[in-house]
Amino acid sequence: MAESMMGLKRSHRCTEVSTANIGQEVTVMGWVAKSRNKGGIIFVDLRDRSGILQVIFEDGKIAPELFEKAAKLRSEFVIAVTGRVEARQGAVNENLATGAIEVRADGLRILSESETPPFHIEENSKTKEELRLKYRYLDLRRPDLQRILMLRSRVAGIVRQFLAEEGFLEIETPMLTKSTPEGARDYLVPSRVHPGNFYALPQSPQLFKQLLMVAGYDRYYQIVKCFRDEDLRADRQPEFTQIDMELSFVDVDEVIDVNERLLARLFKEILGIEIHLPIQRMTWQEAMDRFGSDKPDTRFGMELCDVTEVVKNCGFGVFTGAIANGGSVRGINVKGQGGMPRKKIDALTAFVKDYGAKGLAYAAIQQDGTVKSSFAKFMSPEDMDALIRAMDGAAGDLLLFAADKNKVVYDSLGALRVELAQQLGLRDTDTYNFLWITEFPLLEWSDEQGRYTAMHHPFTMPMEEDIKYLDSDPGRVRAKAYDIVLNGTELGGGSVRIHQNHIQEKMFEVLGFSKEEAYERFGFLLNAFKYGVPPHAGLAYGMDRLIMHMAHTENIRDVIAFPKVKDASCLMTDAPNVVDQKQLDELGISINADAVSKAAEQE
Ligand code: AMO
Ligand code: AMP
Repeated sequence: MAESMMGLKRSHRCTEVSTANIGQEVTVMGWVAKSRNKGGIIFVDLRDRSGILQVIFEDGKIAPELFEKAAKLRSEFVIAVTGRVEARQGAVNENLATGAIEVRADGLRILSESETPPFHIEENSKTKEELRLKYRYLDLRRPDLQRILMLRSRVAGIVRQFLAEEGFLEIETPMLTKSTPEGARDYLVPSRVHPGNFYALPQSPQLFKQLLMVAGYDRYYQIVKCFRDEDLRADRQPEFTQIDMELSFVDVDEVIDVNERLLARLFKEILGIEIHLPIQRMTWQEAMDRFGSDKPDTRFGMELCDVTEVVKNCGFGVFTGAIANGGSVRGINVKGQGGMPRKKIDALTAFVKDYGAKGLAYAAIQQDGTVKSSFAKFMSPEDMDALIRAMDGAAGDLLLFAADKNKVVYDSLGALRVELAQQLGLRDTDTYNFLWITEFPLLEWSDEQGRYTAMHHPFTMPMEEDIKYLDSDPGRVRAKAYDIVLNGTELGGGSVRIHQNHIQEKMFEVLGFSKEEAYERFGFLLNAFKYGVPPHAGLAYGMDRLIMHMAHTENIRDVIAFPKVKDASCLMTDAPNVVDQKQLDELGISINADAVSKAAEQE
């Protein structure tokens, strides 16, 4: 039977009890992590969010009823224990904060009993994630998850404190709103009062934070939920959290400065790590040319090498054909892997095909200097020598080449580089390489839509010196946009915004929006800009990704209390789910049964 707390007051969390308390009477409360009866002494590991404390009940030294009651304790019972702190009699446990002490109980209340849980609650659980997510409230008792969520809470606290010191105001923006321009699919919420009309959940507070600048709030921030209906990946969730900010009367350097100091503060206070400021900056073009990626992992080399010039007249049609089509040939030198078995190279070829590559040409330089290659037969020995020299190839190296349109070459070699580094153990988890990527292209050509789309969003300011190309050569216009990258992850991104009407109108024109369409979607922002708008800029971090790095986990679900799984459902609540007919009627919604069964078939 569950007892009450009446007259009891907790004196310490489990690991707040220490050798300093020896001889004192304490009252601790928590869950039974483990209970074992060792001939007359019952040892209980008591767990709360701070950690584990050992409690003992010794037969003969306490009332028989108390010992009997303690004998009933099972895993996950919630108990309150009063007792005296003693130096531990048995072996000191070096792994526990409280390993040198124990509490000799003289009082016990069973506050709540527990059924046998569906899985054992332990650190680094091997239980299947589906089961753990179904019982997430039990999973969340695991010390490793508790540590991550406590770290997350501390990060939020430091962010708030730092930004307040820097003159930022925390202001909330609406969740029920109109479509925002981040380019993913919206989550829609039907309106009862306006049947047939929908709110969109924000993909980010982008437009509202810009309006706050128009309204004179100068510096805004928010730790805020964002919603994007996109295909989930290891570091994506349909609802995720941004640390979002916007600043008035600033340009790129001020945004970067305040954020570098924020990151330095966070990593120092949370992990004790010194980030050396200023953080390195690299243009988008340099990042693509050297790493094939706009979020390069710079913890290892294996940089891309452009060999287009070297092979443009060679006899290998795959190379010369790609060049003739306006593409390039680039390679990476995988040092010391010249002996890689053919099978493994074939697997790498299959890997790059996912990135659009048609193949992967290789030249493996043997220890005796001979070369095993998939294309040597198409090339004169002199051309092969020149290629190897251009790649800085030495005995024992494996050279891998992709020939295609630039985008395919970058994407495939960029991903291959990271994959190989992972396989070869070159990604040191104790190194934190921060990097700003700047001067992104403003626009991206979309074959699908047959028009340019905004690479960041349509309110991003072009670089002043490139504005003149907006008409003649939009593809070459660079933007005042920046991303902060950590070890190959895009942690955050932002830009200076357009605050001049004529540039904004030109931007919409280049994006193929008519004035009417632009006003229909973003009229409230465009109208606001008629009434005095300060130059402004901002940035948003993916907070979940930041925490993943700080907590050393590859799984975004580990840093979110109640996450969704790959198909965007919640295994604990079974959301999303069907609703009552009455609710649908009120909303004027009818379900298209055909569409539902078709979607079900596709699953
Ligand atoms: P952006 O779209 O780049 O910029 O988003 C900012 C950061 O949010 C994180 N992020 C995600 N994290 C988890 N799951 C997702 N589905 C997801 N999508 C994005 C990323 C990303 O870098 N309004 C602009 C910011 C600005 O211009 O100020 C914006 O939202 O870490
Ligand atoms: P093939 O003559 O098609 O057998 O190709 C010879 C070698 O070139 C093989 O190793 C292919 O994987 C490789 N290859 C084919 N297409 C490309 C490409 N676009 N870029 C790089 N290598 C390629």
